[in-house]
Amino acid sequence: MANLLVTGAAGFIGVNFVYYWLREHPEDRVVGLDALTYAGNLQSLAEAQQDPRFRFVHGDIRDQALVERLLREEAIDTLVHFAAESHVDRSISGPDAFIDTNINGTHSLLKAARSVWLDGDGRPHRFHHVSTDEVYGSLEADDPPFTESTPYAPNSPYSASKAASDHLVRAYHHTYGLQVTTSNCSNNYGPYQFPEKLIPLVIINILHGRPLPIYGDGLNVRDWLYVDDHACGIDLILHKGRVGETYNIGGHNEWTNIDIVRLICGLMDERFAAEPDLARRFPDAPQARGGAAESLITYVKDRPGHDRRYAIDATKTGAELGYRPQETFESGIRKTVQWYLDNEGWWRAVMDGSYKDWIDQQYQERLANSG
Ligand code: NAD
Ligand code: DAU
Repeated sequence: MANLLVTGAAGFIGVNFVYYWLREHPEDRVVGLDALTYAGNLQSLAEAQQDPRFRFVHGDIRDQALVERLLREEAIDTLVHFAAESHVDRSISGPDAFIDTNINGTHSLLKAARSVWLDGDGRPHRFHHVSTDEVYGSLEADDPPFTESTPYAPNSPYSASKAASDHLVRAYHHTYGLQVTTSNCSNNYGPYQFPEKLIPLVIINILHGRPLPIYGDGLNVRDWLYVDDHACGIDLILHKGRVGETYNIGGHNEWTNIDIVRLICGLMDERFAAEPDLARRFPDAPQARGGAAESLITYVKDRPGHDRRYAIDATKTGAELGYRPQETFESGIRKTVQWYLDNEGWWRAVMDGSYKDWIDQQYQERLANSG
C-alpha cells in the first residue's frame, strides 16, 4: 500500500493520473495538491472527491511548510510532481510565472522532501518528477528521435524552466541521496485538456465556427501520446524504475500539425453526419450549414522560436520496464473528440472563467496576423 502526493492534480495530466491510479491501485491513498491556477479545475476531480481514498488540498508547491506538513500527516511515501506552468505560448508572453513555479516551486518541493524524508524519519520514499521532451530542443526531419542521453538544448522559457527543474532533481539525488526518478514525455492528448492546447482548441473552435489557427507552415511535428499511456509509463517507473534514472515516454506517433488538424476536421465532419442533433447544439459550426470543418483552417504568424520537430525514442523504457503505449492514435483521437462532444458543460465552464480573456486576446491577435 502506498500513499501518494500528486502535485498539479487538478490539471490535465494530473486529473487523468489520479483517476488512473485510483482505478489501478485500489489499496493506495492519493492526496492531490493544486494551486488552482487558470489551468487547474476542481470540477475535473468531482468523481475522485467521492472516493474516500482521495483528498484534495488547495495549496501551492512553493509553500514548503504546507508540503512538509502533508508529507508527515499523510505519511506520504511517493510524490509525483506534475504541477507546472505548461503552455509554451504563455511562457513567451510572460516567462516569470514559469521561473517561479517550475524552478522555484520544484526546488521548494525538493527541500520539503529532503527535510521530511532524509533529515526526518528516513522512510523509504520516491520523488518522481514529470518532465517533457522539449528539454532536448528541436530535431531536423531526418534526425533520430531523442534518447535519454540526448544533450539538453531547451529553446523556450517553458522548456528552459523544465530543464532547470530536471537538473535540480538530479542534483538532489546526487548530492543528498534523495530517491528520485524523472520521466520526459512527448505531447499528451485526451480528456480534460485545456482548450489553449492544439487538439482541444481545434475541436472547440470547430464547434464555434471559429478559425483554426495554424502556426507558420503547419509542418512542425509532434509525437502524440494518449494521456493514460503517460500515466501507465509513470506507474511502471515507480514500480520498476531504477532510482536516479530518467526514462523517456512517447507514442511512436509523429504527426505534422496540419495533418493532425485535418484529421480532427474529418472526424468532426463524420460526427455531425452521424448525429443530426449536433447541428442543433452547435449552429455556428460549418457542418450545421452544410460546410466542412477544413474551411476554418487559417495560417497565422509562427510562434517565436517554434521548435520544428519532437520525437521520443522510448527504447530504454520499453526494454527495462516493459512499457508500450496501449492506445492506438485512431482510437485515442476518436475517444477524445467524443469526450469533448459529451462534456460541453466542462469546457464551457473553463472558457467562461478568467481564462476567457486569454482566449479572446489570442484569438484577436491570431486573426490580425493571419495571412
Ligand atoms: P496543466 O497546465 O494542464 O496543469 C498544471 C497544473 O498545475 C494545474 O492544475 C495548475 O493549477 C497546477 N499548478 C500550477 N502552478 C502551481 C503551483 N505553484 N502550486 C500547485 N499547483 C500548481 O499541465 P499538464 O499538461 O497537465 O502538464 C502536467 C505536467 O506534465 C507539467 O509538469 C508538464 O511540464 C508535463 N508535461 C506535459 C505534457 C503535455 O503534453 N501536456 C507533456 C510532457 C510533460
Ligand atoms: O512536447 C511536450 C509538450 O507538449 C509539453 O511539455 C507542453 O506542456 C505541452 O503544452 C505541449 O507543448 P506544444 O507547444 O507542443 O503544444 P501545443 O498544443 O501548444 O502545440 C502543439 C503544436 O501545434 C505546436 O507545434 C504549436 C502548434 N499550434 C498550437 C496552437 C495552440 C498551432 O499551430 N496552433 C495553435 O493554435
